[in-house]
Amino acid sequence: MAGWQNKPFAVEVKAGDTKAYCACGLSQNGPFCDGSHSGTDIRPRVVKHEEDKVIYACGCLLSEKMPFCDGAHKKIDS
Ligand code: FES
Repeated sequence: MAGWQNKPFAVEVKAGDTKAYCACGLSQNGPFCDGSHSGTDIRPRVVKHEEDKVIYACGCLLSEKMPFCDGAHKKIDS
């Protein structure tokens, strides 16, 4: 399995929230950054959310629209 899980994380966000999403895949708190990228050249993807809603953050790390799910997880054999 790539990433943390073979499906997206539903994340409830509020307008004005700034969240850092893991880009290295090392976080123990996926999909969020926990600082595990320290010592690499990889930086988290920081997103300022503009409205209250539920977003779907990629859990498999295969999305081409990171940090958001683009459906790529559907290609993973389960
Ligand atoms: S969870 Fe990765 S593309 Fe959907």
